[in-house]
Amino acid sequence: MVMQNRPPMGWNSWNSFGPEIGEAIVKESAEALLDTGLAELGYRYVNVDDFWQSEKRIDGRLRWDDQTFPSGIPALADTLHRKGLKLGLYSCAGPMTCGGRPGSYGHERIDAETFAEWGVDLLKYDYCHLPPGVDGRRLCERMGRELAASGRSIVYSLCEWGRGDPWEWAAYAGATMWRISGDIDDRWESIVDVGFSRLSELAPYAGRGRWNDPDTLVVGMHGVGNREVADGVGCTDAEYRSHFLLWCLTAAPLLIGADVRNLDEQSLTLLSNPAAVAVNQDPLGVPARRIGRVEHGGETAEVWARPLSGGRTAVGVFNMGLNAGRRVPVAWESLGWDARTTFSVRDALGGGEDIRRSDVSVAVGSHDAALLILEPVD
Ligand code: GLA
Repeated sequence: MVMQNRPPMGWNSWNSFGPEIGEAIVKESAEALLDTGLAELGYRYVNVDDFWQSEKRIDGRLRWDDQTFPSGIPALADTLHRKGLKLGLYSCAGPMTCGGRPGSYGHERIDAETFAEWGVDLLKYDYCHLPPGVDGRRLCERMGRELAASGRSIVYSLCEWGRGDPWEWAAYAGATMWRISGDIDDRWESIVDVGFSRLSELAPYAGRGRWNDPDTLVVGMHGVGNREVADGVGCTDAEYRSHFLLWCLTAAPLLIGADVRNLDEQSLTLLSNPAAVAVNQDPLGVPARRIGRVEHGGETAEVWARPLSGGRTAVGVFNMGLNAGRRVPVAWESLGWDARTTFSVRDALGGGEDIRRSDVSVAVGSHDAALLILEPVD
């Protein structure tokens, strides 16, 4: 087990590659994280999801697929570590993974030892094919114990889809992060479902070293990738903005799911926004919750807020409706501040900075969002 005080950041192979993952793509993606400057900003976990394994165990041990990972996992871990990156790997609490490869059920100890020996830094632990009558929570706890005993610091990322209220117990099982829903896909409705509709109520459960995980980012996929995630259409840039800002505000792990070797300029700029990333990684580690809903003409805008270090406040304003360019008021009192406080208000994406005395109203387009950083001025 490892205490990861800030939400983990990096890349995960599932959204773009699904079962078509292999060593070459992983290494190229790692290079892309370095070349784009994303690694420098903190995106350092390179997480290989399902389908890295061979079809069968060898001598009771998990084994990589020799066709797709010819150099093997320990060599891959070495390569990543030499570049200052980290390796994430995937297994499952059942006897088979969701993709039908060998899972860790009944092999928890040897698998945890194997991951430690190979130099793995993060384990995503899935929840498919649990034997009938078995208590899944106990299986998650068992792997947590084995990882803790393995002698290596391995971030434990639980993926039981929010079935058994993992926010109540996952941290006690040694997990640093836990999925709160089924899989995200590259559509606005899915972002609303896994993110907007759940994260506020779950905010009190998260904090330094224990994070709600609304799944990987779909920013920049534009409908391209693993057919289980991408429908050929994808989201608008405004929707990707809302998605990313919500994940930053709620201290969700930032795991890029797009093909980082081919990120479009807009998506790269968004994912690299230093102010948004700093909100996500803020040392206080307090996730935002929804502090207001504004109804107008049957459509809704939402205001989310969280305290930041240094007495600052981060505010997200989201236009959930289809009407273009609406103005959403944010009153200081709704943020828990005295109405007479004077703030310097910085628009993190727009770049402007302003001194405001009582409140502010923000213009946001359909499905778009703004992030404000408020700092009290004497
Ligand atoms: C499940 C998980 C996904 C992904 C796949 C891999 O569906 O929820 O995130 O890991 O399995 O098979």
